[in-house]
Amino acid sequence: MTLRQLKKLTEVKFLNIYNINESRSVFHLLLDEFLGIDTINFHINLEKKISSDLLKLFNEKVSLVEKEIPVQYVIGYVKIDGLKIFVNKSVLIPRPETIDLCKWIVQEQLNDKKILDIGTGSGLISLFLKKHSKNCTIHAWDISKNALGIAIKNADQNNLDINFNKIDILKNHSFKIKFDLIVSNPPYVNKKEKGSISNLVKKNEPSEAIFVDSKDDLLFYKAIIKFSKSHLNENGIVYFECHKERINKVKNLLIINKFTDIKIKKDSFGIDRMIQAKNYGYA
Ligand SMILES: C[S@@+](CC[C@H](N)C(=O)[O-])C[C@H]1O[C@@H](n2cnc3c(N)ncnc32)[C@H](O)[C@@H]1O
Repeated sequence: MTLRQLKKLTEVKFLNIYNINESRSVFHLLLDEFLGIDTINFHINLEKKISSDLLKLFNEKVSLVEKEIPVQYVIGYVKIDGLKIFVNKSVLIPRPETIDLCKWIVQEQLNDKKILDIGTGSGLISLFLKKHSKNCTIHAWDISKNALGIAIKNADQNNLDINFNKIDILKNHSFKIKFDLIVSNPPYVNKKEKGSISNLVKKNEPSEAIFVDSKDDLLFYKAIIKFSKSHLNENGIVYFECHKERINKVKNLLIINKFTDIKIKKDSFGIDRMIQAKNYGYA
């Protein structure tokens, strides 16, 4: 079979799950990862025949995608801004809007700051902030032992020093340590909204990373804001990624809790998605 034929056959298989553009890019991701053929080499070798061994390996991976396993889990990692971030079913696959949040935060002067990332998952936010700052101390917490295992691996593999801890943010905590910046992309989808989430996500990604197991959609925001009030230094900043329909509710919570300088920012899809606020420390 030639590369040209392989592409045609594979894309058709993916059309039950992905649209044509996504099918194409999933094909190229697999081809690059498992056969070592990048897009440029693909186009200059369209008539090249693939050996039966390589074809077998490739088709094994294709069948995983056909079984609705996200391509990022099939490949086992994602590359973001020069970071290689390993992912498996224990962690949420990094989302473009979270990368937008990271890019917003690094516009701050982060050097020498103490930062806390609540619900670190794969470690994406912590890794990104550590990479883009000098001499800052990063603490990253998650309730999931398995997620923390992946995050620790990611910090090691990227040679970044981050302090990971298994902590449930919904419990009451009183630590001596205070932070200059607290960031979180917490679970924010209500279980009632399951219908709006794609099967690919529901079937594969960890439910505790996505869904709030409570009638209160804002459960995590309330807990993190309360925690931030007592654990942010004066002039400390809190950053959140939010559900697109609830960002104004998060804003109101911040106002009620006397945070100031509140700013909302759109993600790269043009959706109001992230928020920052300052704790002047007088409340
Ligand atoms: C939406 S994911 C965010 C993952 C990662 N920060 C990112 O942006 O890709 C939310 C994370 O919060 C963690 N989490 C859920 N409940 C928690 C709790 N009670 N305390 C701490 N972390 C929790 C989940 O395990 C998950 O890793």
